[in-house]
Amino acid sequence: MEKIIDEKKQGQSLVLEQDKNNKRKLFIESYGCAMNFSDSEIVASILANEGFNTTQELEEADLVLVNTCSIRDKAEQTIRKRLEKYNKVKKKVNPKMKVGVLGCMAERLKSKFLEEEKIVDLVVGPDAYKDLPNLLAEVDEGRDAINVILSKEETYGDISPVRLQSNGVTAFVSITRGCDNMCTFCVVPFTRGRERSRNPQSIIEEVNDLWSKGFKEITLLGQNVDSYLWYGGGLKKDFDKATDLQKATAVDFAKLLDMCAQAQQKMRIRFSTSNPQDMTLDVVRSMAKHKNICNYIHLPVQSGSDRILKEMNRQHTRKEYIKLIDDIKEIIPDCTISHDLITGFPTETEEDHKDTLSLMEHVKYSFGYMFAYSERPGTMAARKLEDDIPEDIKKRRLAEVVALQQEHSRIRTEEYLNKTVEVLIEKESKKSAEHWSGRTEHNSVAVFPKGHYKVGDFVNVNVNDCTSATLIGEAIGYSENN
Ligand code: SAH
Ligand code: F3S
Repeated sequence: MEKIIDEKKQGQSLVLEQDKNNKRKLFIESYGCAMNFSDSEIVASILANEGFNTTQELEEADLVLVNTCSIRDKAEQTIRKRLEKYNKVKKKVNPKMKVGVLGCMAERLKSKFLEEEKIVDLVVGPDAYKDLPNLLAEVDEGRDAINVILSKEETYGDISPVRLQSNGVTAFVSITRGCDNMCTFCVVPFTRGRERSRNPQSIIEEVNDLWSKGFKEITLLGQNVDSYLWYGGGLKKDFDKATDLQKATAVDFAKLLDMCAQAQQKMRIRFSTSNPQDMTLDVVRSMAKHKNICNYIHLPVQSGSDRILKEMNRQHTRKEYIKLIDDIKEIIPDCTISHDLITGFPTETEEDHKDTLSLMEHVKYSFGYMFAYSERPGTMAARKLEDDIPEDIKKRRLAEVVALQQEHSRIRTEEYLNKTVEVLIEKESKKSAEHWSGRTEHNSVAVFPKGHYKVGDFVNVNVNDCTSATLIGEAIGYSENN
């Protein structure tokens, strides 16, 4: 799914093929962004070598792991409720059960977890998953264990994630970890550390491997994919100190896209998330050059007001953002754009809010993910600015942007009426066992009668109806990509 925080997937537990030799049972569930879901696949892969099979039955688990999100307070509250639930099961049904917290909340709260949440036995930050076998050995001996050290190198490039629980058609491939941007509202730079890129060779190997296993679409993942830069390892911020040879042979995101698109010319390629300040037109030209790169960009804007953008430390103005979209449309006229934005950032006035609404009017985004500002401890905004917009005003502004986005989504969806679109079939439609559900390259969901087609087929669909978010139609044959 393209959505950064996919509400439908929250709390999904991961189940993999069972290994008969593995005797212990792991229950692992994930909250938050696509990166967390991808990381859980890496964790499950590491633990499969430590004698664990995955289970969906919480009650029978020897080890329960929850991969956590800190992006907004609500995300953390959801996880605290889950921890209470594990606690009950541990007390009443399975006293031997061990509980571990992974991901951003583990990194943010560190040992506080062991002190406050008495049921937690294990705390592991996002760069420490390879240490899990050692940490588990500690836990087995009855001690609490913690590793929240952030790394300058770790990309898990050498671990091949297991994905048997997926639909077998679409997969995430992570390409960068961490973020150096320091947007003032955002906790990610604190929980995920400095930005580092993964060796392109290991990315291409993963893409080839996914193709050989029947996958048809990949999403290259990073907090800020446009910032991808490989020059033989090392942090992005140290690129200045690289040798001339390293600089001459460096691979940036535009080049990486080229390499991926060429390696598997029928694999659909998406990427997320783009950052307006780092996205170059070379990236857009790479997209234009390859048919298999989807003409769709998730380009968070956060606010339409220059004053608020500055307070957020977004390194672009409203004018520069609009210019970027104009340039994208010039190179790829049919490119669809989606966004993230925040309402009620400290000091946001009605005027600033109107600037956001007018920017939305101007762009008419296809989709959007909109949030009320949630102050995160430790961020620059929390330290320097009072969270001064009352909750009811944040919510009212949020309702206004959501309503406007719905109008725009409908307009954008209706543009496909009576047209033919290529759809990659992902799964059965939730509403009808007689229909398939898939997505177009522009990331619209399409449903249509199954006919003789199967999951993983690329088909051409005539669109004859729609809701604000879904295309409804009839398949008229395989597309040429099939
Ligand atoms: N670059 C990341 C951004 C992660 S957070 C990525 O991969 O998309 C996703 C979105 O959550 C942000 O774009 C922002 O709109 C929202 N967000 C982040 N911090 C927030 C906060 N403190 N309060 C409300 N929304 C926030
Ligand atoms: Fe967060 Fe800004 Fe990075 S939103 S993830 S600090 S680009």
